[in-house]
Amino acid sequence: MLQKEKTKRKLLLGHSGRESMRRAGRFNAELMDHLRELVGPGVTTQEIDDRVVSYTKKHGHKAATLGYLGFSKSCCTSINEVICHGIPDKTVLKEGDIVNVDITSVVDGWHGDQSETFIIGNASEEARAVTQAAFDCMHLAIEALTPGCMVSVIGDAIVAEAHARGFSVVREYVGHGLGQVFHQPPNIPHFPDRKSRSQRLLPGMCFTVEPMINAGTRFAQLDKQDGWTVRTKDRKLSAQFEHTVLMTEDGPEILTLTEHGPRRGHKF
Ligand code: MF3
Ligand code: CO
Ligand code: CO
Repeated sequence: MLQKEKTKRKLLLGHSGRESMRRAGRFNAELMDHLRELVGPGVTTQEIDDRVVSYTKKHGHKAATLGYLGFSKSCCTSINEVICHGIPDKTVLKEGDIVNVDITSVVDGWHGDQSETFIIGNASEEARAVTQAAFDCMHLAIEALTPGCMVSVIGDAIVAEAHARGFSVVREYVGHGLGQVFHQPPNIPHFPDRKSRSQRLLPGMCFTVEPMINAGTRFAQLDKQDGWTVRTKDRKLSAQFEHTVLMTEDGPEILTLTEHGPRRGHKF
């Protein structure tokens, strides 16, 4: 029992663990591409969740968020001022919205976790700019990674870029290690802190990079009613992108690259 728990929380993956994570990441990315056809004006966030459920089930896998700490849905849908953990419901996506869709699949016990912010139709210049900033910050942070680097290279890259564009970086919610466990060490803050300056990202480690970038204040507010939805305190826009990354001996490998989604350098 104890041994099983130890195996489950293993932080340095060998060949077979890495292959399992590649499979989980690949499936999760395929799911994101599948949702891409659906996300648009007139669609409810519940319909997105339904699609996650049916596609995941069809392929014999599971959504990690369903039942996770009491979360009742199979993805998170975070619209406009919602920073993260928005709960799919009857809300209809409308022209001008930005919506982050965050999906986590469990494939043979291994986790793939990613999110994208979608711009619905024509959005404001600010909506476009904050979405672009979140996307660029994620890629700059991943590009800054080298085998054995400090966790803080991620926060350094993200804060520098976000602040240069006049935006702020959320601190209350962070990236995380993952494997056979959804959330495990190390924490991956998107700003440099003391601990991240002393922790290394070693070959064999898997973790997410998922910056949340705000147009106004960095401060967040948790919805007291539902206990999940996190909004910006000033109700200005927030955008996020997330990839699952494996550190290898040759540098970072993104495990959740989609076929049809925006690639590094994309202009929204
Ligand atoms: N997928 C989110 C992450 O990136 C976590 C969602 S947990 C939930 O870590 F319970 F809110 F779904
Ligand atoms: Co995550
Ligand atoms: Co996620």
